[in-house]
Amino acid sequence: MKNYQTTPDKVVKGTHRDVHIFSLDHANNNIDKEVVKSFGDEWEKFESFEEKDLERTAAMYFDILDERHLNKNTYAMDMGCGTGRWTKIIADKVAFVEAVDPSSAIFVADKLLKDKSNIRLTQASVDTLPFADNTFDFVMSIGVLHHIPDTQKAMSDCVKKVKKGGFFYTYLYYSLDNKGFFFKTFFGASDLLRKAVSKLPSGPKKAVCDGLAVVLYMPFVGAGRLFRKMGFKKLANRIPLSIYQDQPFYIIRNDSLDRFGTKLEQRFSRIQVAEMMAKAGLKDIVVSPGMPYWHAVGTKM
Ligand SMILES: C[S@@+](CC[C@H](N)C(=O)[O-])C[C@H]1O[C@@H](n2cnc3c(N)ncnc32)[C@H](O)[C@@H]1O
Repeated sequence: MKNYQTTPDKVVKGTHRDVHIFSLDHANNNIDKEVVKSFGDEWEKFESFEEKDLERTAAMYFDILDERHLNKNTYAMDMGCGTGRWTKIIADKVAFVEAVDPSSAIFVADKLLKDKSNIRLTQASVDTLPFADNTFDFVMSIGVLHHIPDTQKAMSDCVKKVKKGGFFYTYLYYSLDNKGFFFKTFFGASDLLRKAVSKLPSGPKKAVCDGLAVVLYMPFVGAGRLFRKMGFKKLANRIPLSIYQDQPFYIIRNDSLDRFGTKLEQRFSRIQVAEMMAKAGLKDIVVSPGMPYWHAVGTKM
């Protein structure tokens, strides 16, 4: 762990460790504070995860990473860590992780990461990261940058913090560029719904998203599970929301709120993801062909 470049505005005693607060008053450029507040609410509701569910999903996210990216010498940052669920996974593989999030979820991460001694918690935004440039061996940002107004700038700000020869890993929502007409139509309709639901106050929003998990996710997930049982795996994989066929209902509810409760989301094609990463100063970019789409890693030039 290195010293911060600037002094925290406040240090708050969490349940298990200090939380270092860098006031969001300085972060006016590349942050949507309503979105951050909504994520804080989301992660306070969905604050714990089964180990086996995390491991199964992590295997999909991290299929393109190996010992070169994460090893016992790695100084890492999880930018937009939320509850710290992926921080928890990488903490066992690396020397130290800086877990950063601007929302109240940073206090949820304090609890989820209670057994980990090689992490530090920082409440800050991508545009107020209190670390020197060229500091980290590995920076990851999973499901975050598409919720930030200027995704390219946010990515470039993350990559600045990576050392030359270090790695940047991200997962960004896909623009359905690898899908056909049916998927795109289904998505178009669901996006209209998101625009309405995300405007609701916190309580009704959570209730509506729980309802959507039942009436929208479960019919597809149920049909897919049935096809799998009958041995039609290829057909099951072609059904919308197939990624949830082996996920518990808790995760489906969580993702329903994540998806429909968030007013700002942007989507990128596989080519755009690679182009943005190159523009941020990365080379040897690998975009995984597997779900979740698109997750990618690159090396800092
Ligand atoms: C969908 S959650 C993903 C959390 C975590 N990476 C995960 O996959 O569980 C998006 C996270 O991005 C964070 N976020 C939103 N705007 C941000 C910004 N300007 N800087 C850093 N993080 C931001 C939110 O607070 C939220 O926790």
